[in-house]
Amino acid sequence: MKTQEIDLFWHNYKFFPYEKRFALREIETLLKPNDIKELNGKLIISGSKNSEAIKKLVYFSHAEIDQNIVQTLQFHCENGSGTIPRHKRQNTRYSVHGLHEYKGKFNPQVVRSLFNIYNIHKGDKVLDPFCGSGTTLVEAAHDNITAKGTDINPLAVFIANTKIGALNLSFNEVVQSKGQFFKRYSAIKLKLKLNDEDPRIQYLKSWFPEATLVEIEALRLSANELEESIKNLFLVIISNTLREYSFQEPLDLRIRRRTTPLPTTKILDQVSDSIDAFAQNIKEFHTAFKPLKSNNKAHHIDIKLSQQDTAFKKENSFDFAITSPPYATALPYIDTQRLSLVWLNLISAKEIRPLESDLIGSREFKMKSEQLNWQQFFLENKHSLPKEIHSFCMQLNSKLKPSEGFRKIALPSLLYRYFYDMKLAFEEVHRLLKEEKYFCLIVGHNHTTIGGSRTDIDTPKLLSFIGKEVGFKIHEILPLEAYQRYGLNSLNAVQQESLIVFKK
Ligand SMILES: C[S@@+](CC[C@H](N)C(=O)[O-])C[C@H]1O[C@@H](n2cnc3c(N)ncnc32)[C@H](O)[C@@H]1O
Repeated sequence: MKTQEIDLFWHNYKFFPYEKRFALREIETLLKPNDIKELNGKLIISGSKNSEAIKKLVYFSHAEIDQNIVQTLQFHCENGSGTIPRHKRQNTRYSVHGLHEYKGKFNPQVVRSLFNIYNIHKGDKVLDPFCGSGTTLVEAAHDNITAKGTDINPLAVFIANTKIGALNLSFNEVVQSKGQFFKRYSAIKLKLKLNDEDPRIQYLKSWFPEATLVEIEALRLSANELEESIKNLFLVIISNTLREYSFQEPLDLRIRRRTTPLPTTKILDQVSDSIDAFAQNIKEFHTAFKPLKSNNKAHHIDIKLSQQDTAFKKENSFDFAITSPPYATALPYIDTQRLSLVWLNLISAKEIRPLESDLIGSREFKMKSEQLNWQQFFLENKHSLPKEIHSFCMQLNSKLKPSEGFRKIALPSLLYRYFYDMKLAFEEVHRLLKEEKYFCLIVGHNHTTIGGSRTDIDTPKLLSFIGKEVGFKIHEILPLEAYQRYGLNSLNAVQQESLIVFKK
């Protein structure tokens, strides 16, 4: 094929240094250029014109070749038809990604870019063992890539599967269903009496003003009468609004009584606006991708027990794995989302604490006896974890002062349990991946102030020892700078994450 000059134009917002490095890697894999030069804010490459490959690039808006413009799909994803005014910022909420808040959500661009860098395309099968709200599954669906996820949090699974179902909804369907939904809501609300005997209602009553509880119950019952994917969509939208209207402090990850006033906008108006915003967003997105039916799915299962689900029985069956795993002493997912979990009837109020302590990286032991057992396991390194991990936990333990609170005292054993659980999870991913295939993890660094001084926890490095232990080779470990790119003190708040790539 003839060699040509191809000018590549970045999107018109700021990039992290790692995004520029990813962009180059994508160009190398997709376009195999003879030469790359940077000039006046664009990249000039010499290579053969391949419009399909150019359209896949994540960090560029368009290419110019012989005065012809080729726009990338990502440009359309992030900008739609251009009717929604946008700031000069990376849009991470395109398609269905912005449907529900979820802590520790992936940046969808990173997932997409890694698909490009590792040459993952239609026909391949992708695994996300900690799929959360489904970013990987959705990004894969956009490109007809088969993807399966596991997550132990039923809310995460519900959000992820709702997002996948919503990919097949059109603007008109959503808007028309909204009319029917609110009509039925009014009729249901007129007759609704809350059942005070029901423990679910009793729990919710302590967290919502009674008038609001009547409204959200009527909304839920009205949604339940709709066709599956619309029903789930509306439930997820309401779920995303709940905290704001509850007695829970909206910005606090732990459940605490709010000190800020309740919103003045009516919840019905808020839900209605959110449905409209979703409909508009999906309409914009359909300028890049048509509505699509995908069989990608999040499975509600503990990854450590994945063999119990038929979808994960067969070994050597996935071509790629990608995830952002839970951190050691992770975010309190369940606590943060308890109102949604109970309102959606996914768990009962009694199940909140046990579920929280089942999550990998949980800060809690179920019982005192469990804590004592883990303390013993850790002191003896009963599970034969790599010596680097055991000695790190021992080092933390030796820093403990007698005055330390119960959380700090538990930390060395919690960390030891975290790395052991991650080992079991990695063993499953290793079993499921085909030979020579890659497993990408995006992991943050954290720290603790045990014994009065700061100790950094280099989770990516420690996890890389676990990966080796279960039989992976370390393919690469790359830093991902994750400071707040648009804040005032952006450069001061550098938060380091790393990409670890294992190879089976
Ligand atoms: C950082 S989040 C993943 C977020 C996801 N990448 C997204 O874009 O929404 C980590 C997830 O691990 C899940 N998790 C924790 N322990 C698990 C286990 N044993 N099996 C499966 N999932 C688990 C948590 O529920 C949480 O959703």
